[in-house]
Amino acid sequence: MKIEKVGVVGCGLMGSGIAQVAAGAGLSTVVVEVDQKRLDEGVARIDSFLSAGVERGKLTPAQKVELLSRIEPSTDLQKLADTDLVIEAVVEDVSVKKELFGKLDGILRADAIRCSNTSSLCITEMAAATRNPQRFVGLHFFNPVPLMKVVEVIPALTTEPAVTQAVSALARKLGKTPVVAPDRPGFIVNRLLVPFLLDAIRALEEGVGSKEDIDAGMKLGCGHPMGPFELLDFVGLDTTYYIANIMFDEFREKRFAPPPLLRRMVLAGHLGRKSGKGFYDYPTRS
Ligand code: CAA
Ligand code: NAD
Repeated sequence: MKIEKVGVVGCGLMGSGIAQVAAGAGLSTVVVEVDQKRLDEGVARIDSFLSAGVERGKLTPAQKVELLSRIEPSTDLQKLADTDLVIEAVVEDVSVKKELFGKLDGILRADAIRCSNTSSLCITEMAAATRNPQRFVGLHFFNPVPLMKVVEVIPALTTEPAVTQAVSALARKLGKTPVVAPDRPGFIVNRLLVPFLLDAIRALEEGVGSKEDIDAGMKLGCGHPMGPFELLDFVGLDTTYYIANIMFDEFREKRFAPPPLLRRMVLAGHLGRKSGKGFYDYPTRS
């Protein structure tokens, strides 16, 4: 299966990183957003990550220009028509994702591979909503995409083994280690990580410690690169809230239930770094 041209739908936190690593691996990459403003913000995120990389000596200015030249930003899904594989990285809402894959069915070649970067949704449900469920697979990247080395590959019940192998090979080409995970909410990593993050919020609500002390405790006591509140702000409180609800709906276990504070922060628009305010304040949005 030749994968030379890829599409990414959504150029937010994850889609921008996925487009960057695809182009960085030499693939011709089309990235699609809902409107020009979001598209410009996404491309600016890629540009600024690459500029920081140039400053750190990780790539040359010429390599940055070459990488960016392989990315075609667009607001038109039709531009994906000749891609070999498309990765969806839009909001964690199954109806939005299914509607998008329905539109893509009318645009993509029948044999193009469709992937979802979902954190927790059912891969088999999305596959079943497409016209070629054998060629649908979960491909779950981690944030920040250019730096995190693992990708979960999640076959649906219907996925052809050759598709699982092709996307695993693609992950390796992007410099990642593929890990095959089951089609259960949260797969492997979020199944373990999300209850930990939710527990940290419950600990805060119960007065176990301040957010600063809980973060310092986990960083200095356990060697975590970020404390749970820093990581919650980094992932996005809206995304974490959607993931927790999806996991709770499936498993009905209290450890996956979103704590009341999380819901209220999302309702207040305190989404973390992306909104400028979460558990901490971010004067410059990222
Ligand atoms: N370009 C190229 N390289 C860069 C770079 C850039 N713009 N910025 C940083 N780097 C490199 C650095 O040079 C450094 O590389 P070396 O080790 O080779 O020197 C490395 O990246 C680390 O950089 P820093 O030392 O500046 O940064 P840090 O030590 O503060 O680490 C971090 C940053 C990697 C994000 C770290 O804080 C971390 O691992 N945090 C946790 C992230 C995490 O848990 N992510 C998963 C979230 S859950 C998820 O994604 C799933 C989901 O579904 C919600
Ligand atoms: P985000 O809010 O930063 O970005 C989502 C983007 O999708 C937005 O820019 C939005 O405009 C765009 N979008 C929505 N509908 C669209 C459509 N129909 N067509 C084109 N673009 C559309 O969210 P994110 O954090 O990048 O998350 C995206 C997906 O990746 C979610 O499924 C999430 O669960 C998953 N994920 C997130 C993380 C994380 O740490 N944030 C990690 C791994 C996976």
